[in-house]
Order: sequence, then structure tokens, then C-alpha cells
Amino acid sequence: MPITYQSETRTFQLDTAHSSYIFRVYDGDYLFHEYWGRKLRPVDLIRLHATCASGFSPNWAGYTSTSQSLDLIPAEYPVYGGGDYRSPAMEAAFSDGSRLLDLKYVSHTILKQKPSLPGLPALDGGDATLELALADHPSGLTVIVSYTVYEECDVITRHAEIVNTTGEMVRVNRALSASVDLGSMDYDLIGLRGAYLRERQVERRPLRHGMQALESRRGASGHQMNPFLALAAPNADEETGEVYGAALIYSGSFIASAEVDCFNTTRLQIGLNPFDFSWKLEPGESFTTPEAVLTYSAEGLGRMSRNFHTVFRGHLGKVKGTRRPNPIVINNWEATYFDFDEEKLCSLIRSCKGLGIDTFVLDDGWFGKRDDDTTSLGDWFVHRGKLPNGLKPVIDCCRENGMSFGIWVEPEMVSEDSELYRTHPDWAIQKEGRPYCTGRQQLVLDLSRREVTDYLKETIGRLLAENDISYVKWDMNRNITDQYSSGLPADRQPELLHRYMLGLYDLLEDLTDRFPQVVFEGCSGGGGRFDAGMLYYMPQAWTSDDSDAIERLKIQAGTSLVYPPRCMTAHVSASPNHQVERVTPFKTRGLVAMSASFGYELNPLSLDEEERAAIAEQTAYYHRINDLVAGGDFYRLVCPFKQRPNGGGDDAAWMFVSPDKSRAFVMYAQRLAVPAGPPRRIRLQGLDPRVVYRIEELDGDFGGDELMYAGLTMPYFMADFDALCFTLIRKI
Ligand code: DGJ
Repeated sequence: MPITYQSETRTFQLDTAHSSYIFRVYDGDYLFHEYWGRKLRPVDLIRLHATCASGFSPNWAGYTSTSQSLDLIPAEYPVYGGGDYRSPAMEAAFSDGSRLLDLKYVSHTILKQKPSLPGLPALDGGDATLELALADHPSGLTVIVSYTVYEECDVITRHAEIVNTTGEMVRVNRALSASVDLGSMDYDLIGLRGAYLRERQVERRPLRHGMQALESRRGASGHQMNPFLALAAPNADEETGEVYGAALIYSGSFIASAEVDCFNTTRLQIGLNPFDFSWKLEPGESFTTPEAVLTYSAEGLGRMSRNFHTVFRGHLGKVKGTRRPNPIVINNWEATYFDFDEEKLCSLIRSCKGLGIDTFVLDDGWFGKRDDDTTSLGDWFVHRGKLPNGLKPVIDCCRENGMSFGIWVEPEMVSEDSELYRTHPDWAIQKEGRPYCTGRQQLVLDLSRREVTDYLKETIGRLLAENDISYVKWDMNRNITDQYSSGLPADRQPELLHRYMLGLYDLLEDLTDRFPQVVFEGCSGGGGRFDAGMLYYMPQAWTSDDSDAIERLKIQAGTSLVYPPRCMTAHVSASPNHQVERVTPFKTRGLVAMSASFGYELNPLSLDEEERAAIAEQTAYYHRINDLVAGGDFYRLVCPFKQRPNGGGDDAAWMFVSPDKSRAFVMYAQRLAVPAGPPRRIRLQGLDPRVVYRIEELDGDFGGDELMYAGLTMPYFMADFDALCFTLIRKI
């Protein structure tokens, strides 16, 4: 049983294949977190309890021992008001103005079937779920703290449900998904920071005393910080050392934090950002937090990432079943931008014939009267100036040339210059009578309002029902400002950002349900909303608007810390690159893009014969390795964030290994060439040491043991931005 309860010691033990998570019901019926780490046999950890010198750490009511202070005990779901001065998981206010909470254990249930989270994306399945009922005394407010164990993935998910059983209105001001107290501060904090065009850069720093938080207040997860945090032992690297990882299945404002107290313990928390959040809970109502995904790895960051990848591939909405080949796409954005018409599109499509591309995606500019980004968002009908005969001739042209058709939409937005805005100005998030911000000259629609999501279900639904569309790129090009909803009463305004997300999830649930044949690709000015919440509905996301292969080495390696490479869309684009004007070999662009959901973002008409032949070769090769990228185990061999002394370190390598270890795809790329550079030997990972592998590109046989323990010497690259790949196939 992955979840056990020892009634004598009142201890809960949650076991995964390689980890245990243990806590008990302690004096005063408070929950005492005891352990999270390598797997333990069933154990009573009372001897681990330590008493600190506790001046100014108050005792809870009726107790006097130094160990009986909520400021000192490692908690499971800490609250405000009872003497724990560290960051609470929950804060609430009652109608008399009091904000005091005192959550104690009442009962628990262990379930075989994990209940779903109402209105929120979450992992399905799991081996067992523990629901702990806690109650506040004397108000009677109930909090159900849930844990689900995914044994083989070494993952535990957590969320909380606050049920207003008090008979009066309660205002929930903070409701995090998970809080874990670790008995040490000897960790590095790892986060994924970034910017537009430079998403998910790995940043690592030692923990210090006090609060350190990664967060978004944008109403979207954002380019700037990803809803993820890891705490790694200082010596942990890709293959060794202890790492705790936490990610949130949520696409709005979040917080992920680590707080170190004066006793050198660390409180790790993740959940909805309490900034500009307050939720009115009427009697009988409940509030469910998003789900946090927690994993422990004793084998470094690589194992942490593979745990996230495995659980997302096995249990996250549309990401599930990603062993199916994903389509190779060509997108016209960087080929034409807004400047196209039917003839131009059809000539692009015709020129794709024979290249092995599966789907043509028509990007921005096909609707309303959109010739630039100042107009028409919200008017989801065809731009007759550009496409006088509608979408049909373009779709037919795709079919005639052996491709499916995909389309770009940005449903969450409205342009001031649009029929939709002229008809429903109040549907935009803004406060009438106040000047408001625009971003890319557009406004955000108020998805907290039912009539708005109904309109979008209807219009986007009609577009998909009336046209032969197999792929949708769903963009979102600005964050929320002027946080005011004309659909909400004054006392519910701080609910807007979360209600927006619930509205968006409801819309996506409806569309993905009604159009299961359509592959949805998420996008937000590139990777501005690359999170597990969006991936639940859209199994892949445009990783960054920076399509330069060399920039992508870091962006894709950073993203892979949490998300399966299959979820990243990556395209071969033109050289010089449109974002950084870098000139890179076609081969390098291909190999980096092939390490993800592959495609092209260039004008096929501007290619010479050699480049066309290269595309045909790349697509054929991708079809061979597509199942590895989609469902293989991923290993970062040389992380591009890690600089090495002695002139090295300007390179990156990663590999995918099939689940049965019979095949592998290795990619190695160099940024700047190093004059007289030291020889570069790289140790592969994840292979079977007893097996002999044929490496096609070297026309040679190598033992799995040799490749993993002795390594493989890379050829000397004279030039900048060179790359190569190795294809491994089990021989015996
Ligand atoms: C931002 C996206 O990231 C781009 O790929 C492109 O679709 C543009 N929007 C279109 O406006």
C-alpha cells in the first residue's frame, strides 16, 4: 500500500518507488511533518523530534512544553494566528473581523480513486489518495488536505479544499496548494526565470535566511518566472544528489517560495499568489486550490525532470498518450508576417510538397481586417480583403498537397478597433472612467464572465466546426492590467484573476472536448504561459518567439527541467535569424528543433535545392525518432547553463532513450568554437550497460557500459554553432 496509517503512533507514511513522505498527528491534534526523502521501511520517527531553545516561540493553548509551539514544529498545512510566524499556507477572515485559525486533525480517508478537482486541471489516476479533514476551532471551518501518490513516478500531488461549514461568510485571503517543512537550509534554490524571447533560464543560488520567493502577479504564469521551484543539495548535479521539485498545475498568478527560519529549517511552499487575491466563501461553499506536483530525487536534477516528465506523460490531460507521432508543422508567421493573400499562401503550401511536412498552420492576420497588430482581435471571421473566398481554398490546397490545415487564434483578447469591442466594451478588463493600459494595442477579455466565455465557445467552436482544421495555435499576447471586472460586485473584485483562469479552463475544456481531433498548441508571445495547467488542454506550446537554435539550447534545456520535450514546439527558422540575426547551419537548426515537437517557420519558396533536400532528410529522420522524443526518457548530458573552466563549456548535449533502452538519439551542439579547445568527451546516460549499440553516424559498435562510463569523444568543431547527432540502435 503506498499510503499507510499507524494508529498507535498516528503516523501517515506515503511511499513511492524510491521515496517516503511521513507525518503524524501530534500533541494537540496538530500535524507534524517528519520526513521527506529516500524510501524508508515503516518507521516511527519520534526520535527525530528535536527541541529548540524556543524563547519567543509561543505555546499553543493549554500546553507549556518547549516542543509544543507551532513556531517550531514542522507543519503540513500551517495557518496564521496560532504562533507560527513563518509563512502560512492559509489565511482567512471571519465576519467579526478575526483572522485567527487553529487547524487540527479530525479524521482521514484513504481512497483508491482520486477525485477530480472541480474546474481545475489536475493529474488523473494515481495509486492512492489520502484526504485529511482538518477543522478550525471554534469556528468549525473545514479544510481537506489531499495527497495522491504516483508510486512509479516518485511523485506526490497535493491540494487543499476549504469548506465553509461555519454558517457565516468567510473570506479566504490565502490558500496555497502545498507547504513542506524541511529540517535543513543546506540547499540551493533553483528557479526558471526569463523574459520575452529568453524564457526559462535556469538560475541557482544558495538558500539564505528569510523569505525567497519566485512569483507572478500577471494573471498568467508568465515569461518572467515559471511555476516551479527546486531545492537541491549544494553538491547535486544532473546525476547525483538530493533534489526536491515542486511544480504547480496552474496558469495564473502563483507563488513558489522557500523561507528559512532562525533554526535553519526551510519551508517550501507553492500555490496561488495571495497578492490581489481574496475569495468570499458563503456558508456551504468550498474553494479548491490548484494542484501541486512534488517529487523527490536522490539522483540529481536529471531524475527530478524525468519524474515530472513521466507523471505528466502518464497523467496530465492531453499530454497523455504522447507516444503517438506529433505532426510536423510549417507555420507561415516568420515567412509572411501579416503580408499574405490566398495566392501567396497557396504557393507556400504547394512548395511544401514532397518535404515530409504534415500540417500547414496559418498564423495571425487571417481574420477581421487585420493587416497589422492594431486591429480585429475578437472578430473571428475571415478577412475578405486577403482571403475573398474564405479559408476553403487554402484548406483544399493543403489537402491536395498532402497536408492538414491548422490555424492561429487569440481568443482571450480584443482590439479596441474591432466589432466585438464596439459592441461590448465592458467585456474587456478595465474600469470604466479610468484610463487603461494596452499591450500590443489590445485588451484582455473578461473571462470571469459567463457571457464572454459563452461567446468564445460559440465563435471558436463555429470556426472549428465549419472548417477542416486539425491544429490550433492558441496565442495570448499580453498580461492583465486594470484588474477590474464589471461583472463582479465590489466585494468580489479580488477574485477576478482566479475567476479568469477558471473561465479559461472552462472554455478550453469545452473546446478540447468538442473537438478531440484537433491538436491545440499553446502560445503566449512564445513561452509566456508554459505551464502544466495549459498543457493539460494543449499538449504542446510554442516554446519561445526566439527561434534561433543557439538561444533555444538554453531555453529548451531550461524548459526540460519540468516539462517533457514533447511539449515544446520548436521550428527551424530562417538564417539570419529574425530575432538575433545569428547565422547558423541548417543542420544545427534542424537538430535543436528535432529535440522537441518539430516543425518549420520559414519561407519554403526562398530555399535552394540543397536546403529543400535537407528538409526532406530532416523530416524523414524525425519520423524515425519521433517516438523517442514523444515518449523516451530525457537526459541532459551537458547543460548549457553550466560553464566549465579551461575554455570548455560553450556547448550543450542531451539524449532521448526509448523506454526499453534499445534505441537512443543524442544531440550535441557547440556555441562558440574554442581555439585549441580541449578534447570533449561526453558520458551518455540511461543506456543498458550490458548491451552493444550500433552508432549509425560512426558506423561502429559500442558497449552501453563504455558509452556511459568511459564516454564518447566528440569530433573537434572548427566553426561556431555546429551540431551533430548520434542514432543508437541495440545490436545484441
Ligand atoms: C506571438 C507568437 O508567439 C508568434 O509566434 C506569432 O503567432 C505572433 N504572436 C502573431 O501575432
